[in-house]
Amino acid sequence: MARILVTSALPYINGVKHLGNLAGSMLPADVWSRFKRAQGHEVLYVCATDEHGTPAELAAAAAGQDVKTYCDEQHQVQKAAGEAFGLSYDVFGRSSNAPNHRLTQHFAQVLEDNGLIEERVDRMIYSIDDGRFLPDRYVEGTCPHCAYEKARGDQCDNCGRLLDPTDLKDPYSAVSGSRNLEVRDTRHLYLLQTKVADRVRGWVDDRSPSWQPLARSIAYKHLDEGLIDRGITRDLKWGVPVVGPDGGPRPGLEGKVFYVWFDAPIEYIAATEEWAEKSGGDWRSWWRLDAGAEDVRYVQFMGKDNVAFHTVSFPATILGSGEPWKTVDQLKAFNWLNWYGGKFSTSQGRGVFMDQALELLPADYWRWRLTAYGPEHADSSFTWEDFQASTNKDLADVLGNFVNRIVKFAESRFDGVVPDGGEPGPVEAKLEADVTSALATLTAEFEAMEFRKAGQALRALWVLGNEYLQEAAPWTAFKTDRDRAAVGVRTGLNLVALFARISAPVLPFTAERIGATVGQTDLSWPEPGAALLDVLPRGRPVSAPEVLFKKIEDAQVAEWAERFGGGE
Ligand code: MF3
Ligand code: ZN
Repeated sequence: MARILVTSALPYINGVKHLGNLAGSMLPADVWSRFKRAQGHEVLYVCATDEHGTPAELAAAAAGQDVKTYCDEQHQVQKAAGEAFGLSYDVFGRSSNAPNHRLTQHFAQVLEDNGLIEERVDRMIYSIDDGRFLPDRYVEGTCPHCAYEKARGDQCDNCGRLLDPTDLKDPYSAVSGSRNLEVRDTRHLYLLQTKVADRVRGWVDDRSPSWQPLARSIAYKHLDEGLIDRGITRDLKWGVPVVGPDGGPRPGLEGKVFYVWFDAPIEYIAATEEWAEKSGGDWRSWWRLDAGAEDVRYVQFMGKDNVAFHTVSFPATILGSGEPWKTVDQLKAFNWLNWYGGKFSTSQGRGVFMDQALELLPADYWRWRLTAYGPEHADSSFTWEDFQASTNKDLADVLGNFVNRIVKFAESRFDGVVPDGGEPGPVEAKLEADVTSALATLTAEFEAMEFRKAGQALRALWVLGNEYLQEAAPWTAFKTDRDRAAVGVRTGLNLVALFARISAPVLPFTAERIGATVGQTDLSWPEPGAALLDVLPRGRPVSAPEVLFKKIEDAQVAEWAERFGGGE
């Protein structure tokens, strides 16, 4: 049994996340955590809301609330939405909680002790009309690298480059739209990434061979562009305050807070502290190499825009501290999920958001679509038509239909129990061989974090079930050879039990219901080589489920396209 630490990029507090956010970080992290738990490993899946920085302040202002009240509310809303989606995090923390304040200030202190932090007077954009500095997303303008016109002060969404607000051409205030801006001097802390660049590259060289190309190529792109010293404090009110060694305000930097991207990844560790406070667990054993974390395997899930922060900036913090912290072993990055070829947008409310999705259909319908057809090795689009097709064809016609058909038949012809009698023949032997090999493929794809391929392998197993029923045709055999029919039904019911177990990581809610039809409550992952098709005790009662998956009708597609917009 291994100890596996899983984190998914921490969702910004600025409102319920859309399906694109879900598909590119939290959902795969959940699916994979469930897979690993089912194999018997000890998994700690850590998530939290990312509550600082300009996204929080801007969203609170738009909601007409003070930032703290806004964050308190939105944290609860996001937590509830995640749970309703079946996200099985062990903790859903908050980057604004005390452990993260302490730990962020701790890292800043040790980095400074190590000569890696320096005070610099910097030229920052000040908005005369807004009466404030405009850090990060408070300013937008044209990207100096790719000429995208809506680049934000911290990052260009078009080319992915990390930016400083003063890099932008034709900047304007994101608060007021004002272009009445000037550059003023202000004092900030700088992390001297240039001094740790070699260490970071060495670390990436060491870790990245086991990453998939997307994560690896982004990491090297940023390393090759060259690390620059980066301001890690901001002129904002909300955030982790910059303090002096005595814990009081730091002279010359009064009223400043750490940059959100400095404190947010530290929350992975701090959220584990929050988990420990509640559960009595030992957070150090997950994070400190001097407290047992050497044997932890650490896996991170995130969208591609987050990769630079996790492969360069956060490692610079961790490695620069010189302290024995656990760093990521495997980093799984995702492309974008688009909304009909355009972008999902939180700020513009475009697309479907997690809470809305669940008003339309249960979580597993979405989980299937977003896992088996997710934006994994290329951007992919969500459309209602594709969603209808994957629901109807995969879930209703293949999986749902199989379970329904065989359990109903056992009810009507075999007294609602797993039948005894008969001996498996060549059809069952072939099935056993096919299932064994398909299961090995499925397990390998999950191991490799190839979610789309795992989805197809899972579907291939469901298809084997249907093909078997077609061939064994117990309904026909029943008339002439009851024993033959009994073997067919028994084998089919065992497939139902198997499908419950192997579908559980992606379809946790339905898997329980499927398992319940044949009394299979153990949803652990099947061991390689284990007997699979004759494990249910004979005579065990079975009972057909209520409809497992309802087909999506054309009228529903029309209605949802109307309500949410489709291609625009
Ligand atoms: N909130 C960020 C985003 O949605 C992700 C933060 S990941 C963390 O892009 F590690 F920094 F927390
Ligand atoms: Zn750009």
